[in-house]
Amino acid sequence: MAKAVLGIIGGSGVYDIEMDDARWEAVDSPWGTPSDELRIGEIGGLPVVFLPRHGRGHALSPSDIDYRANIDAMKRAGVTDLVSVSACGSFREELAPGTFVLVDQFIDRTFARPKSFFGKGCVAHVSMAYPVSPGLVDRVAAAAEAEQIPAHRGGTYLAMEGPQFSTLAESHLYRSWNCDVIGMTNMPEAKLAREAELCYATVAMVTDYDSWHPHHGEVDITSIIAVMKRNAENARRLVSRLARDMPHEHEPCPAGTDTALDYAILTAPDA
Ligand code: ADE
Repeated sequence: MAKAVLGIIGGSGVYDIEMDDARWEAVDSPWGTPSDELRIGEIGGLPVVFLPRHGRGHALSPSDIDYRANIDAMKRAGVTDLVSVSACGSFREELAPGTFVLVDQFIDRTFARPKSFFGKGCVAHVSMAYPVSPGLVDRVAAAAEAEQIPAHRGGTYLAMEGPQFSTLAESHLYRSWNCDVIGMTNMPEAKLAREAELCYATVAMVTDYDSWHPHHGEVDITSIIAVMKRNAENARRLVSRLARDMPHEHEPCPAGTDTALDYAILTAPDA
């Protein structure tokens, strides 16, 4: 069985995690420039690779992130299981700021980002019906429970282009679509992770009620930052627990995430 390597992509507020023997290492990618160097180390003997999605110092806006380079860098570093830790707004009263939502569906409304490793010369269509890996989500849920972090299993994440927040009308529209949370970064990341045959899970950390909530006013970055700092502390505990409890052998994904390309490539080998 292959060795498990846990990858963590840290969103707003999560720019580093605690690891043993950690070093920053530049990884080249033919797809472009990853958001930052990779932070490579170990937690409880498990190899862990961390990447701050917006770069240290938060220099990259969601549309400027090279998602292909990030996923490719993770793959080259040997990552088998990738957890995305991201700030989000909430469309549901009960998903209050501070809640971690273990998303299981996405609606992709981004439009200004390359979304595939495939194209001219090699055409592939991977399945995205079930975009997260249930086994990995089980592990994340168990880690949240062990750390007593409020977590909600399941939910639909609306990925918007940004960088501006939604209008009130958009916020109402997404609620009418039964979306649960909104963010600017998990797409095309989840699609690319699938194309790279990585097991993928998202921890969407609620910072605000977007703009629909009658008693919470509009979303603004100052209030987001305050909640984000608390969420980031919980995220670091969650990741540490997840890594310590994770088996060191990669378990084949029951949903076939790690063999997603087996039946996806249309182009003939000699084309
Ligand atoms: N990230 C955090 N809160 C958000 C919101 N309300 N909309 C989009 N992205 C977010």
